[in-house]
Amino acid sequence: MEIVKYPDPILMKKAKPVANIDGDIQNLVDNMSTLMYQASGVGLAANQIGVAKRVIIFDIDYKEKGKDLTVLINPTIVLAEDRVVSEEGCLSVPDFEGKIPRKKYLKVHGVDRHGKLIDIEAEDLLAICIQHEIDHIDGTLILDHVSHLKRNLYRKKVEKLMKKAK
Ligand code: NI
Repeated sequence: MEIVKYPDPILMKKAKPVANIDGDIQNLVDNMSTLMYQASGVGLAANQIGVAKRVIIFDIDYKEKGKDLTVLINPTIVLAEDRVVSEEGCLSVPDFEGKIPRKKYLKVHGVDRHGKLIDIEAEDLLAICIQHEIDHIDGTLILDHVSHLKRNLYRKKVEKLMKKAK
């Protein structure tokens, strides 16, 4: 089990809503959190571990592992306001950082791992993180938010590395 990296096509596909919160989803969430904390990430989407379902997890205070983990299934953004730009990286896009425009305030709706409805109000880092993860399950990467030039340079670098590895 590992984190899927660009250019794996599963990262570019829109993930499917979760219909039943069953044992498979519990296992998925457990696997996701293990990998996220191992990689010292602040968020992870299910397709980043190869499962095309609308499940995201995040913990912006990741240093205390597991304490503030939020699981959000079938998330919907109900409100997004004001603009903020910050430097973002992604576990699926190694050695890349980009200045990404996001909304500063966010209200999101979804269900937790027990099927309970939850509403989250977020700002700044948390809001950015949630938008980043929802992007993932919509098939969007931080690469899609930067200039063509920057994206192409990264793509070429990855292609070169992949050729070398063969
Ligand atoms: Ni990411």
